[in-house]
Amino acid sequence: MKKAVVVYESKYGSTRQYASWIAAALSCPVYERKNFHPADFALYDVIIYGGGLYAGGISGIKLLTHNWELLKNKQVILFTCGLADPTNPDNVSHIREAMAKMISPEILQSITVFHLRGGIDYSRLSLLHRMMMAMLHKMLLKKEPGDLTSEDRGLLASYGKSVDFSDQKSIAPLIESVL
Ligand SMILES: Cc1cc2nc3c(=O)[nH]c(=O)nc-3n(C[C@H](O)[C@H](O)[C@H](O)COP(=O)(O)O)c2cc1C
Repeated sequence: MKKAVVVYESKYGSTRQYASWIAAALSCPVYERKNFHPADFALYDVIIYGGGLYAGGISGIKLLTHNWELLKNKQVILFTCGLADPTNPDNVSHIREAMAKMISPEILQSITVFHLRGGIDYSRLSLLHRMMMAMLHKMLLKKEPGDLTSEDRGLLASYGKSVDFSDQKSIAPLIESVL
């Protein structure tokens, strides 16, 4: 039986929720990134890392990219958790373009990537995050309606609100990909 571990970084809880659903489905341990020591990768055959999407970046992705030597002979699965709907191919292309800027081609071709959908609760955002979203919202309001992407429209529709698209069933393809 292969030994798997789930490690995640989550700012508001959506990625944490997916990480615990995945760990429960695989009956494997789950660690918050700050509590996981990279030397412990040696204990596992399958590493599943999850991070929230923030302005295109993946929270804590350096855990994989900076420790690739320890990981390159293992099965590595990455999941992202964002507000944009990953069933829309344009949104996935957008996430992948951003990923290609932070993850080397060597790593990208060796890992399996899944995109899961979280949510946002504006009443819980930090001041910095609230300001970032306010700036983005202002920029989107200036765009011609015809130029808005589906991601833009989703952001406008949820702006200032609390929405949660987390879906336990959406982890099924990831679970099935574990060798
Ligand atoms: C400042 C900020 C930037 C964000 N940028 C993105 C983004 O680029 N793409 C996306 O899909 N979601 C984006 N989101 C939404 C988060 O990814 C979403 O809230 C996710 O559920 C957060 O997961 P976490 O609570 O586990 O960190 C952003 C949210 C904030 C507050």
